[in-house]
Amino acid sequence: MSAQAFLSTISSRRSIYSLGKKLPLAQAELSKLVKEVVKQSPSSFNSQTSRVVILYDQAHDDYWSHTVKEALRAVAPADAFEKGAERLKGFQAAAGTVLFFESETAIRQMQEKISLYADRFPQWSTHSSGMAQINVWTAIETAGLGGNLQHYGNLTNDALIEKYKLPKDWKLHGELVFGEVLAPAGEKTYMSDEERFREFSS
Ligand SMILES: Cc1cc2nc3c(=O)[nH]c(=O)nc-3n(C[C@H](O)[C@H](O)[C@H](O)COP(=O)(O)O)c2cc1C
Repeated sequence: MSAQAFLSTISSRRSIYSLGKKLPLAQAELSKLVKEVVKQSPSSFNSQTSRVVILYDQAHDDYWSHTVKEALRAVAPADAFEKGAERLKGFQAAAGTVLFFESETAIRQMQEKISLYADRFPQWSTHSSGMAQINVWTAIETAGLGGNLQHYGNLTNDALIEKYKLPKDWKLHGELVFGEVLAPAGEKTYMSDEERFREFSS
């Protein structure tokens, strides 16, 4: 792949909010892609701290229409809840959600194994999660889907662990909602290169 083709690929990954249920590939094929992309994503010392759950069909619908909604109702003031709940309908309308967890046990094991970097491993774990997230987000776009990234994990982590009997040390870092693209992303603006970049050669 040329550098130009790579740029074109990463530029076409956008936050798409108008998503539908139709998938251009079988769920099994999509799951295979997600798993392979996560496996190929880097982690500090190859610690492989990322854990992933894919929700389709009823599981996806339940997450947005019940798990997140009820968790939001419990913490948000009434007017904020109404607005938030409306937003959740958009996520529910999509085809599925990839949940990105990090294993706290895997992080602790790395801290014990390489104590010199003990204070760094939690941060590197969030970096690794972000890398897996962007790779999956871009990959699903290349597969003809669209997606957007959400963060309700602080509200829903425990409910997910209980519902799907996941290991208790898994912590949810992000939710990638995916589906058929029904409307393109909005315009994206960019700050100036002068403000953002510096180059030196001596
Ligand atoms: C770390 C991170 C957290 C984000 N959290 C959210 C979020 O909670 N909800 C949301 O709708 N978008 C979220 N986004 C998407 C950004 O708003 C979006 O990437 C940005 O506006 C640029 O647009 P683009 O994704 O179309 O390139 C997040 C993006 C990143 C990188």
